[in-house]
Amino acid sequence: MKLEGKMAVVTGAGSGIGRACALEFAREGARVVVADINAAAAQATAQQIGPAAIGIPTDVADPEAVTRLAQKTIETLGKVDVLMNNAAIQVNKTIEDTTLEEWNRQMAVNVGGVFLCSRAFLPQLRRTRGAIVNMSSVNGYFVEPFSAGYCATKAAIIGLTKAMAIDCGPSRVRVNCICPGYIDAGLAEGYFQAQADPAAARMAAGKLHALGRIGRPEEVARVAAFLASEEASFITGAQIAVDGGFGSGLPLNS
Ligand SMILES: NC(=O)c1ccc[n+]([C@@H]2O[C@H](COP(=O)([O-])OP(=O)(O)OC[C@H]3O[C@@H](n4cnc5c(N)ncnc54)[C@H](O)[C@@H]3O)[C@@H](O)[C@H]2O)c1
Repeated sequence: MKLEGKMAVVTGAGSGIGRACALEFAREGARVVVADINAAAAQATAQQIGPAAIGIPTDVADPEAVTRLAQKTIETLGKVDVLMNNAAIQVNKTIEDTTLEEWNRQMAVNVGGVFLCSRAFLPQLRRTRGAIVNMSSVNGYFVEPFSAGYCATKAAIIGLTKAMAIDCGPSRVRVNCICPGYIDAGLAEGYFQAQADPAAARMAAGKLHALGRIGRPEEVARVAAFLASEEASFITGAQIAVDGGFGSGLPLNS
């Protein structure tokens, strides 16, 4: 098993890709902290995993909550080997339609959450020579309509990943990010629902990928487990696409 004896924290693990990652990490031998702003969802994922997991309700945009998460994690697991910064929200609007409150919240969760959690867990990760896996998106470099702020946060995560990898290299902490294409999970569903014809938008999204379909959360989770593990021991500062050949498919309106 890739993560035997490892302790992992996954944010936004109450649903979608984060939940799939928490399940995959546990399947690969890790004990997992399921951190999510939705307390019931965090609990449900932890229960699905069983004794190898605990759910800790956490808003990653709240500095005090993140400090509590780090303290409780150490009290419970004793150490941390893997931090997966996955939690995010998506405002499906143009810049003109986005309120200042929506803009600030999206930045605070998607980028601020990576900052706060990384800052809180790095002292532990340095001790274990651990790994950080950040969740970006193909939207970090391949933008789409009605999600300008979200695309900006995902581009920021790619830059943050590379810069953190440089800073953390001397401590032997690896920092990478994953750029998924459309994945059958909450944020993609929200994007489809925000379009005039959600079913058509979903069909069209599949065609954007060379493989002709959108992906499954488990397909991202397997790559996350690899990046978190010693099998990726010489990979840091990388952006790994898990996108079924996104951008190689047919354009949206074909
Ligand atoms: N679904 C896709 O097509 C897709 C594609 C590329 C990248 N991603 C990225 O994958 C990640 C997960 O997306 P998803 O589609 O699985 O979303 P999702 O909505 O299914 O899951 C997101 C989880 O994050 C939690 N969350 C939201 N705000 C939080 C906060 N402040 N603190 C803690 N938890 C919080 C939610 O409660 C939810 O459980 C995101 O980073 C997203 O940008 C998704």
